[in-house]
Amino acid sequence: MNQDDKKRKVAEAALEHIESGQVIGIGTGSTVNELIKLLDKVSSKIDGVVSSSEESTKLLSEKKLKILELKDVGQLPIYIDGADESNEHGQLIKGGGGALTKEKILANASEKFICIIDESKLVKKLGIFPLPIETIKMAQSYVALQLIKIGGRPIYRENFITENNNIILDIHNLNINEPIQLEKSINNIPGVVTNGLFAIRSADKVLVSNDTGIETLDINV
Ligand code: 5RP
Repeated sequence: MNQDDKKRKVAEAALEHIESGQVIGIGTGSTVNELIKLLDKVSSKIDGVVSSSEESTKLLSEKKLKILELKDVGQLPIYIDGADESNEHGQLIKGGGGALTKEKILANASEKFICIIDESKLVKKLGIFPLPIETIKMAQSYVALQLIKIGGRPIYRENFITENNNIILDIHNLNINEPIQLEKSINNIPGVVTNGLFAIRSADKVLVSNDTGIETLDINV
């Protein structure tokens, strides 16, 4: 099975977690795109969707689904999203697609957060994937310097502006021994909008697609 097949399979597995009458939060990325393709199968039981990005909204608008805004629904029963890395505790690195701020808001606004990945994303320790940090443009150098002080190597993401009009710094070489502490301390740097560590609000379930099927990591059940 190639990686695309695994993405499709894990997206299919996520459908089983959707219950009748729910408004569903939808993440961003190629794995989530597979989920969006499959939503027709459950559209009759979905009350609406809340999207984490323009990319996902565009795909969702091709479906017969009611697209709602978080400000109108307040909370979500369920949020489904991919990740760039997950450890066995459901702590994630996200933001490869640059949608991390809205994704983090939706994850936090959700009762249940289901993360869908293929096995290549499951790691013992987070940090091989560079940590994306959405940053206010004028703070770029200041934020980069603070990250260098803690051992990171920031790389400016070229030709990329987020939907919130900010830039992304991708931080290489970080030693992520304590994801929750690091998430908090990076959040405290003035100029940082969001960092791609999802450890304070980790996933409740991680569905992992491999050659033999779907492994489910139940974190907060
Ligand atoms: C976007 C994200 C994505 O969830 C992450 O990049 C994984 O994407 P893909 O499913 O394409 O590998 O965080 O900001």
